[in-house]
Amino acid sequence: MGRVALVTGGTRGIGAAVATALKAAGYSVAVNYAGNEEAATQFTAGTAIPAFKWDVSDFAACHAGVADVEAKLGPVEVLVNNAGITRDVMLHKMTPEQWTAVINTNLNSMFNMCRQVIEGMRERNFGRIVTVSSINGQKGQAGQTNYCAAKAGEIGFTKALAQENARKGITVNTICPGYIATEMVKAMPQEVLDKHVLPLIPAGRLGDPDEVARCVLFLASDQASFITGSTLTANGGQYMV
Ligand SMILES: NC(=O)c1ccc[n+]([C@@H]2O[C@H](COP(=O)([O-])OP(=O)(O)OC[C@H]3O[C@@H](n4cnc5c(N)ncnc54)[C@H](OP(=O)(O)O)[C@@H]3O)[C@@H](O)[C@H]2O)c1
Repeated sequence: MGRVALVTGGTRGIGAAVATALKAAGYSVAVNYAGNEEAATQFTAGTAIPAFKWDVSDFAACHAGVADVEAKLGPVEVLVNNAGITRDVMLHKMTPEQWTAVINTNLNSMFNMCRQVIEGMRERNFGRIVTVSSINGQKGQAGQTNYCAAKAGEIGFTKALAQENARKGITVNTICPGYIATEMVKAMPQEVLDKHVLPLIPAGRLGDPDEVARCVLFLASDQASFITGSTLTANGGQYMV
């Protein structure tokens, strides 16, 4: 059996592409999801990858969820923090609930999930943690103070955790995708996409989830052993850092 990989938010969009790519590469994969049973059932039926339901913004739920995955598959060696949400609105209209939901799901989930696996990775002297941040955590985006704060926070968290664990064979990296054709982006009005998003992408198109999955696959691999604390951008040239 290959290494055990756990992908949060792995039943749809980018996470589903990541989980499928990891499985095809020989990993023993589990995914997590929040509550869309139909998508989870369909995903597992199509891939034979088991899906586990829990809320990544809830520390106790992450503790129980990871324990369940490890009881069934073995210790998690690759963690992909992918689950994320948006609640877009200008700050002057943002509610505390919209702020908190995005910070909890995107950023606090990193603590909630990494905390469950990091001790085991240190004991075994191996681990790969890859987090899916966003171009908007790098450049900012009007209407997304909550999301940009969370996504920029993921990058800082990654760099600190990478330093703490570099001598333990554990790498911790972030990927910043640009606009990728998933339900999250398809939820934007077509007019906004056509007028305000596509013209800003030098590649002239949205990215494909598989293009992000290949980045994760590389950072998760044994070959990427000297890459830690890095931020890999995959955005069709939209923002260069
Ligand atoms: N799409 C883009 O253009 C883009 C660009 C840059 C970065 N990203 C980032 O990439 C990641 C994936 O985005 P996506 O577009 O693939 O999203 P998506 O299609 O909306 O899928 C989101 C996945 O996350 C799960 N999820 C949401 N909240 C959760 C929670 N509290 N606990 C557990 N699972 C939860 C969902 O589960 P359910 O199905 O059960 O709801 C679903 O599996 C996110 O972190 C996003 O911020 C996306």
